[in-house]
Amino acid sequence: MKKNEEYVVQIVDNGFEGEGIAKISGQTIFVPNAIKDEKVKIKILKVTTKVAYAKVLEILEKSEHRRLTDCDTDSQCGGCSLRHMDYDYTVQMKKNSVENTLKKALGREILVDEIIPMEAPFYYRNKLQYPLGVSENGELTMGVFAKRSHKIIPTGHCQIQNELAQKIANDIFAFAKENKICGYNEKNQTGILRHIVVRVGVKTNEAMVTLVVNHLKMPKEKELVDFLTSQYPQIKTIVKNLNDKNTNVILGTKNEIIFGDGYITDILLGKKFKISNLSFYQVNPIQTEKLYAKAIQYAQLAGCETVFDLYCGIGTIGICASDKAKQLFGMETIPEAISDAKENAKLNHVKNSEFFVGDVEKTLPEFVQKRNIKPDVVFVDPPRKGCDKTALETLLKIEPKRIVYVSCNPATLGRDLKVLENKYESKKLAICDMFPWTAHVECVAVLNFK
Ligand SMILES: C[S@@+](CC[C@H](N)C(=O)[O-])C[C@H]1O[C@@H](n2cnc3c(N)ncnc32)[C@H](O)[C@@H]1O
Repeated sequence: MKKNEEYVVQIVDNGFEGEGIAKISGQTIFVPNAIKDEKVKIKILKVTTKVAYAKVLEILEKSEHRRLTDCDTDSQCGGCSLRHMDYDYTVQMKKNSVENTLKKALGREILVDEIIPMEAPFYYRNKLQYPLGVSENGELTMGVFAKRSHKIIPTGHCQIQNELAQKIANDIFAFAKENKICGYNEKNQTGILRHIVVRVGVKTNEAMVTLVVNHLKMPKEKELVDFLTSQYPQIKTIVKNLNDKNTNVILGTKNEIIFGDGYITDILLGKKFKISNLSFYQVNPIQTEKLYAKAIQYAQLAGCETVFDLYCGIGTIGICASDKAKQLFGMETIPEAISDAKENAKLNHVKNSEFFVGDVEKTLPEFVQKRNIKPDVVFVDPPRKGCDKTALETLLKIEPKRIVYVSCNPATLGRDLKVLENKYESKKLAICDMFPWTAHVECVAVLNFK
């Protein structure tokens, strides 16, 4: 097989990113935008020793699950890779993908106890992050990064972003254009505005605007604040965030509040949460409530348990579970998130709780040794890379009755479950579609001490 050759192939499966998979003489070919059971004409783009990559030239036999994409920037944007499939089919595909990944990691089947699709899978993202830059003809531009690149694609209307957040971002962009506020130029690190980040508390309808800037002196700052706050009573706070590093990370660590108190509030499962801009907060609050409810159900709390919430962010899981726990301890690496978590505990009258800043792998063993407190139930909700080896070893040492593992990456979930199976039985998990139209998925698994 060689680059630029054309073939007619049958798509035999879909991979973890939703891409079609075909085989020619036993060699695997990844074909984005093709669906299982379709017959397609492809052009080979790249060949490696193990696999090849191709693009669809023509669909000869269409899958019954194919739909017309309803997004102007779908072919360029790196956001929704499953937009060309029926929604129900995407959920089924994610289920198969989770099952296959876990089967590989564990060497056995694991029961998918429940799949939680989203009823109305649109406008679900409560956090918008649009990069700003300079177009080829020197004009300010705003949009989304193209797939695997830093080219900014101007966005029209995005069907997964919160609508209020889109309106606010578009108005900031228009204001910046009119007032000649320069966009950031990645090549020579000049210009001012790097990103507009808008977070919305969907239940409270409160909005927080973060202007990520290359230096803190922004022209027309007061005028922009006056304009936004007069147009949008929903805006509770506006923060300038300094990011002057040559980096892909969106937010810097230094904030300057230019309007309001630096946070918004949202409600999850009847509990109130203060959220500041450096803290993690789940992006799909409708599905988050369902995910947390499932995690709490799996925890089987009777009211007498000591509960640890590891990788706790602003304390959401632990605080939502706190009515059924005797005491709660949370750990998290971002200091601002722990400060939010402490406030959130107060706000919700959660008395027997303590929250600690630190990496779980270091803080958990230290805490257990110093305080001699052992948990009955542990929630873990790590980032995509999963739990650190030392964190897992500590869990195996302290032997909580139950571990409820929330994960946004089935591959690291499988890897970590395999380690914990040393002393735990993991028989079931639930899948929650937190990120409709993308290949991402959230899982929650329960592990009982053997
Ligand atoms: C997927 S988020 C979950 C947060 C929270 N449980 C929630 O549902 O909103 C993972 C969190 O782990 C934190 N984190 C990342 N690495 C960590 C580590 N080594 N130790 C403690 N926290 C960590 C991140 O800052 C983030 O808040």
